Amino acid sequence: MTAVLIKGAKLYGEGDPVDVLIEDGVIARIGTIEEAGAEVIEANGQVLLPGFVDLHTHLREPGREDTETIATGSAAAALGGYTAVFAMANTDPVADNAVIVEHVYQRGQEVGLVDVHPVGAVTVGLKGEKLAELGTMAKSKANVRVFSDDGLCVADPLLMRRALEYTNALGAVIAQHAEEPRLTVGAQAHEGERASRLGYTGWPASAEESIVARDCLLAEHAKARLHVCHVSTSGTADVLRWAKARGTQVSAEVTPHHLLLTDSRLETYDPINKVNPPLRTESDVEKLRAALADGTIDCVATDHAPHAVQDKDCEWSAARPGMLGLQTALSIVAETMVRTGLLDWRGVARVMSERPAEIGGLTDHGRPLAEGEPANLTLVDPDAEWTVSGRELASIAANTPYEGMRLPGVVTATLLRGRITAREGKIG
Ligand code: DOR
Ligand code: ZN
Repeated sequence: MTAVLIKGAKLYGEGDPVDVLIEDGVIARIGTIEEAGAEVIEANGQVLLPGFVDLHTHLREPGREDTETIATGSAAAALGGYTAVFAMANTDPVADNAVIVEHVYQRGQEVGLVDVHPVGAVTVGLKGEKLAELGTMAKSKANVRVFSDDGLCVADPLLMRRALEYTNALGAVIAQHAEEPRLTVGAQAHEGERASRLGYTGWPASAEESIVARDCLLAEHAKARLHVCHVSTSGTADVLRWAKARGTQVSAEVTPHHLLLTDSRLETYDPINKVNPPLRTESDVEKLRAALADGTIDCVATDHAPHAVQDKDCEWSAARPGMLGLQTALSIVAETMVRTGLLDWRGVARVMSERPAEIGGLTDHGRPLAEGEPANLTLVDPDAEWTVSGRELASIAANTPYEGMRLPGVVTATLLRGRITAREGKIG
């Protein structure tokens, strides 16, 4: 394998630019380096970060390869600066057994652009009735360490308790999609002034907050870890702050869209803005940003959810919830957290790489930028801007809510174990 030399990068955006030599997949040397024969990336003072890790990606293979495949989703991830993604289990068939998770893992390896870690379903067929074969999936070649029924909530408290106990024994974690289904029957949008005025059936904040509070108590009782998916309300941040102060082993993620967009988008009636959990209020957005900055919310996860045109370009109530996220995540974090002064680039490394790697049990991602560490890296031009166009994204689907928006922060190179997986907006 040829060596790669990154010339003049600011590690975590700090200090003077340095050169980083990568050999045999690891960071061999950091300093002032001349290396004949190495492939050179001129960083010109850009920001070098550990490769991003996404705990929440929908890749749609198997079952909906018309919207995304492991290959196209991996390309979107690499272009977005990711070196590892966790692929959610709500595929068709559901990833609730060793055969499917091994297939997804294997296919990710063949594509080779990011490490694809399959998430196993908590319950058989995501039906919320019976635990899936968690142990078999954990011990399979896919080495599953995150289990989730995402898209749906594990609503039965007894089943959730058993799932927490069981995954704890496996050294794994449950990622809960917190939504009390009895409170969201027919729900279409955040329950509040805007939804009532515009005629949408409401999805109350308490449907999320009550499940998170319950699950924190169940996790504490089971002495188990819990991860909360896509936190969307300020009340959930309050519950997490309370639970963490008590010593509950809980972690949480927030999506880029919940850091930027609000239910003011309901005015358009455009289903591109339909997502689950729904876009909330300006006050929620402000408090979610603060909770991410102070560590109450551990990390950013995309909830990248590709959908076909016919499932988005239709009336609101018939549209599927979800939006693309992999290629825009860094820019939304730059816009909402860095430009606002809430996080510096070291903070971005923490919320987009280090914490998600720890939560997902990855030991070779989210590592320090230091000699001897695996060369899973992302180079970001913090000053550059770009304009989002759904058709130009690598995903098959094009359902981005940021169409036409000019955003800061461009990923200029991504390296997976020293191999360049994306460079200047192109794969490889
Ligand atoms: O908006 C969403 N889309 N939320 C989910 O929980 C599931 C996801 C999907 O699979 O499309
Ligand atoms: Zn979800």
